[in-house]
Amino acid sequence: MTFPKIAILISGTGSNMESIVKACKTGELKAEVTFVGSSSSGAKGLQTAASYGIDTCVFNYKSLEREKAEKEIIEKIIKTNSEWIILAGFMRVLSPAFVKRFTGKIINIHPSLLPLFPGAHGIEDAWNSGIKVSGVTIHIVDEGVDTGPILAQEKVLRLPNDTIELFEERIHQTEHMLYKSTLKKLFAENKKNK
Ligand code: GRF
Repeated sequence: MTFPKIAILISGTGSNMESIVKACKTGELKAEVTFVGSSSSGAKGLQTAASYGIDTCVFNYKSLEREKAEKEIIEKIIKTNSEWIILAGFMRVLSPAFVKRFTGKIINIHPSLLPLFPGAHGIEDAWNSGIKVSGVTIHIVDEGVDTGPILAQEKVLRLPNDTIELFEERIHQTEHMLYKSTLKKLFAENKKNK
């Protein structure tokens, strides 16, 4: 049986990446991780991915212009025959040309109920607004920032004696579950339609 090949892009801790990699290893998620690429050489997630025996690489956005870094990503995607690009805390905005090339195949996770609180600080922005209900969104990436078609959302409540640390922890726990279950459905539907 051939599983969908997925490339995962990160920039930091990589806890979402790790939860996806683990699910692929146990067979909970029927997909093959081709490589984990990071926009930064210091990303902790690179070591985590390597510890699971996953091929890792750095697309050094610090020294390369976006166009060049994206050219390297495209080359790696082609070389590894990757079908899906899974963004898991990837803190760079992909160019419209890149998004167009992989239309419908780039998936992102965002730590709020979009369209509320887009951008790099979804958790803090929701917390600082005082809103009682926030959550997690999984969406297809389009040419905007955190604007693409929504695949799944799950609420996370702000509790009466909450702290931002506890709230953040519950958001991350929800992220890990929701990313796996959404990808599972997406890959199953895609297989049916092939
Ligand atoms: C997650 O909250 C994700 O939604 C956001 O960046 C964070 C990445 O966390 N885009 P991690 O690197 O997966 O631990």
